[in-house]
Amino acid sequence: MNKKTFKDISVTGKRVLLRVDYNVPLDDNCNITDDTRIKATLPTISYLLKQNAKVIICSHLGRPNGVYTKKLSLEPVAKRLSKLINTQVKLASDVVGESAKKLVTDMHDGEVVMLENVRFYKEEESCDEEFCKQLASLADIFVNDAFGVSHRAHASTAGIAKYLPAVSGFLMGKEIMALSTNLEKAEMPFVLILGGAKVSDKIGVITNLINKASVILIGGAMANTFIAAKGGKLGYSRFEKDKVDVAKKILAEADKKNVRVILPVDVVASTEFSENGPKKTMDAFCIKDGYQAMDIGKKTCKIFKKEIARAKTIVWNGPMGVFEFKKYQSGTKAIAKAVAKNDGISVIGGGDSVAAIQKLGLTNKITHLSTGGGASLKLLEGANLPGVSMLLDK
Ligand code: 3PG
Repeated sequence: MNKKTFKDISVTGKRVLLRVDYNVPLDDNCNITDDTRIKATLPTISYLLKQNAKVIICSHLGRPNGVYTKKLSLEPVAKRLSKLINTQVKLASDVVGESAKKLVTDMHDGEVVMLENVRFYKEEESCDEEFCKQLASLADIFVNDAFGVSHRAHASTAGIAKYLPAVSGFLMGKEIMALSTNLEKAEMPFVLILGGAKVSDKIGVITNLINKASVILIGGAMANTFIAAKGGKLGYSRFEKDKVDVAKKILAEADKKNVRVILPVDVVASTEFSENGPKKTMDAFCIKDGYQAMDIGKKTCKIFKKEIARAKTIVWNGPMGVFEFKKYQSGTKAIAKAVAKNDGISVIGGGDSVAAIQKLGLTNKITHLSTGGGASLKLLEGANLPGVSMLLDK
């Protein structure tokens, strides 16, 4: 990355506004159910604290649409962070109001203050100029470590960088390295695994990586659109009718570039889109009337696993089946195990694929598990991220 990082700038004794993505899942009682995103920012926080910076943390949580929402307060997050860094994290009751100003004014070197959910202000998402200035006035330096939201041009992710020296944090650098820089010189064979419901979500990724990958394995409901493009019979399976032509073009382009696109040969199908229907394995190109594909079948797993075993570089985004139903998690889990077994470089993004790895306890077998959903897709598309382009050049 040709952008300055938090190590290229002196932070000692300075007020550092650290934007993080603490948009973590909460249960009905506001307990954090997965703190991966908080833990991923600890290297940056501990570096800043060691340098005796005053660390002012800013994050969003959920989508409150500019309105204070008690359930989306960062209170549980501040508590969890306090425990993880063994240092008190004081939570302001606002972002640019009296509470934030007072806590920041009273800060000593090496202390941490957290601002309330920045999306309680509608000015955040509209990137209001005055709000950017007010936010910037709290600090001397802006460090952006919020990779997960770096594809949004909001006040605290991009707008603020106009008013403060702006650099990236450790997590931001790591994500960009794994999902972009390192893929430029990816070792072959490079296997791209794509799944999930929609081709439309992944067109940009395919268009970019078709120039780099040697094999593309496609599962999930998005495979159905490709099967339709090849004239398969889909029964009741979900597919994007208006994207069949796009799928045809992608297949033709892959052919031209000698990239092998491998589609499922068999699927586990059901008559119902739920956990309760009957399960039947059938030919992916000839699904019986009344049935719909819910997961990839065993033969497909075997073919995909063989390709994965040979790969030197793997990028995986999206589940192979309807992962929200336990009954149809087998394909995704089999792929997760195969990716974990591979000794090459493996990069995984997207909620369900990451969840499969975590559920199986295989996290430490993967080179890089991205903390971003939409942001990781944007990076794989080769797009510029507003939260990164605004940072200082090296
Ligand atoms: C995410 O969870 O993907 C990020 O925090 C971005 O959230 P958003 O989609 O609400 O902008």
